[in-house]
Amino acid sequence: MTKRVAILISGGGSNMIKLAQSMTGDHPARPVLVASNDPAAAGLDVAREMGIETAAVDHRAYGRDRASFEAALLAELERAAPDIICLAGFMRVLGAEFVSRWEGRMLNIHPSLLPKYRGLDTHARAIAAGDTEAGCTVHLVTPALDDGPILGQARVPIRADDTPQSLAARVLEQEHRLYPAVLRRFAEGERQPLMLD
Ligand code: GRF
Repeated sequence: MTKRVAILISGGGSNMIKLAQSMTGDHPARPVLVASNDPAAAGLDVAREMGIETAAVDHRAYGRDRASFEAALLAELERAAPDIICLAGFMRVLGAEFVSRWEGRMLNIHPSLLPKYRGLDTHARAIAAGDTEAGCTVHLVTPALDDGPILGQARVPIRADDTPQSLAARVLEQEHRLYPAVLRRFAEGERQPLMLD
């Protein structure tokens, strides 16, 4: 049975594009929705061009009322009836009630080697700490931020002349390798973490 995948984005959606492009042929999953908290997210245009259903729920319209924003997002998701949700450059923190609704089938990609550097500015923090390597992690989403079971990681050496921007660019390349590979394994029922070098 083909798994239905919804992808949540906030911006350009480069990870979403790679995920959507990977779901072809004998891949056990297909994209059924790309949704964003920003109606102007460039990734929505690309998803439409790829023939994928899109939705936008502008979080700014809800002000501080996160529960109403998440209820509106949930309604869009339930219309698409996904089996799996992939957060891909999705920049809103989701509340415990929303997360628990999808726990065990919502994935996220985070630009660090978790459990190091949860939260933001991961590359600047790794460089400032004098780390010799950085990377990215795909994990199951739990109510605690960037804290769920790890499904895969890719490592990237930090160079002496790296800036957060140069490191971010190399990590993003690895995100584009790791996320599609982990999604395929996850859709096939594989839960052993995938470690890419
Ligand atoms: C990037 O910083 C990436 O590391 C993180 O989200 C940001 C945007 O990703 N996962 P995308 O190009 O929108 O997928």
